[in-house]
Amino acid sequence: MRDIEAPRAHADSSFLWSDARLLGFGPMDETHKEFYEVALRLLTCEAGTALAAVRDFEAHAVDHFSQEEEWMRSSKFPPADCHREEHAAVLKSAREVRQALESGAGNEALARDFAIHLLQWFPGHADYLDSALAAWMSKHRYGGQPVVLRRKQGAPD
Ligand SMILES: [Fe+2]
Ligand SMILES: [Fe+2]
Repeated sequence: MRDIEAPRAHADSSFLWSDARLLGFGPMDETHKEFYEVALRLLTCEAGTALAAVRDFEAHAVDHFSQEEEWMRSSKFPPADCHREEHAAVLKSAREVRQALESGAGNEALARDFAIHLLQWFPGHADYLDSALAAWMSKHRYGGQPVVLRRKQGAPD
C-alpha cells in the first residue's frame, strides 16, 4: 500500500487550522479548513448560539463525509470500511448532541465538550485515513502524488 500513502501531516494538536494539516488534494483540504471553522464555532458557542452551531456542524459533517465516501466509491478506493465507520460514529454523536439540545436535555457545555472531542479526533483521522484517500485521489485524478506547499512554520505572514 506504499503507493497510496500521502505525506504525513506534522503532529499537531492545535484546535486551529494550519497548513500543517494540508494533505495535498485541494477539494479535501478546503473541506478540512471548513471543518475547523465549524468546530471552532462549536467550541466557542454560548447558550444562544449552541443549537445553531451544532446544526451547522452536523450539516458540514454530512457533506464532508458523503463527499469523501463518494470519492471512495467512484474511484474504487480499496480499504474503505473503517473510514466509513469513523464517519458514521461522528454523525451519530452529532445527531445525539443536536437532539439533546433540541429537547433541552443538553446545553452549550455539552456542545463545547463535543467540539473538544471532535478536534481531538480529527488529526488522527486525517493522518491515517483521509491522507491515504487524498493521495489516492491525487493519483487517480492527476496521475501523481500530492504536492503539499506549506508556509514556513513561524515565518511572518
Ligand atoms: Fe475528511
Ligand atoms: Fe474522512
